[in-house]
Amino acid sequence: MVNSVVRVRPALGPPLKRVTERRNTMVMDMYSKKVIDNFQNPRNAGEIVNPDGVGEVGNPQCGDMMRITIKVEDGRLADIKWKTLGCGAAIATSSMMTQLAIGKSLDEALALTRDNIATALDGLPSAKMHCSNLASDALKVAIKNYLEKHPEVANPKPE
Ligand code: FES
Repeated sequence: MVNSVVRVRPALGPPLKRVTERRNTMVMDMYSKKVIDNFQNPRNAGEIVNPDGVGEVGNPQCGDMMRITIKVEDGRLADIKWKTLGCGAAIATSSMMTQLAIGKSLDEALALTRDNIATALDGLPSAKMHCSNLASDALKVAIKNYLEKHPEVANPKPE
């Protein structure tokens, strides 16, 4: 005879349900409306087929990872896509980074900082500022990857 154990998760009773709802409300209160919108409706998620540059970074503190793929046309970022394995702030910063960087020249995009991204999201809790590093760092790695493949862009010949 095979012993099988079926575990049924008990429904949250009223006190525990209230605690969970209160905690969820506190978490939502920590973030701006823009952070919540970009987390719930992320823009430009995915991966570009045959990208011109790829950037991957990880956060050693929390183990989160981000992969950025870019398309470059006429020296500008024509498209950016991202895949992020991470927290809500990392998702929101990935989404906002693409909105800030698409259409920019490579130099303008390289100058994009984590503070620019956090400001565009109307701020992040200080404990979550490190999450915006992923987005700005991954974009820089992807652009550097593109420039390594196109040294003529990185080091234009003197006229
Ligand atoms: S907690 Fe890891 S990126 Fe946000």
